[in-house]
Amino acid sequence: MKRYGIILTTAIISLAFAASSWAACPQPRKTKAAPSNMASKDMTAKANLANGKKLYNKSAKPLACKMCHGDKGDGMGKLGKALKPNPRNFACAETMKDVSAGQMFWIVKNGSPGTGMAAHGKTLKDKEIWDVVKYIRESWVH
Ligand code: HEC
Repeated sequence: MKRYGIILTTAIISLAFAASSWAACPQPRKTKAAPSNMASKDMTAKANLANGKKLYNKSAKPLACKMCHGDKGDGMGKLGKALKPNPRNFACAETMKDVSAGQMFWIVKNGSPGTGMAAHGKTLKDKEIWDVVKYIRESWVH
């Protein structure tokens, strides 16, 4: 009987690890909605994809987006895993279907109060925010 106990414990522990390395989808989302004139705005057509990629992975201040949102956009970045609520999982179509480019821009600029998502209005220019929104949408949001 003791051996079954050990096998069961091992199985439970490995399941717990597996679960913690998967991003939830659909992901619970209570993020404040942008004002409707902002939510419907989309300036990504003329935005710079290469610059957005650089901001996401390296140069955005105070932190590169990937530290939390992960290099696959799934919210499983090094710092992101520990945050409650979790960083947005951009790769989850079910959650992202209601999140417009303008909504994303607004939260990146103003932050999501009470969460780990900081306001970037002082560290990124509007143009840079549209660049990074374009990178996220073209990479993962379909
Ligand atoms: C310190 C961790 C952290 C960093 C760094 C970070 N985010 Fe977030 N982000 C979060 C968390 C946590 C949420 C979830 C907020 C919520 O549930 O309202 C979030 C949510 C978002 C959302 C979702 C908005 C919505 O309406 O659902 C967008 C878009 C976003 N982040 C973009 C970015 C971009 C772009 C960067 C880099 C410039 C970035 N984030 C950097 C933690 C982070």
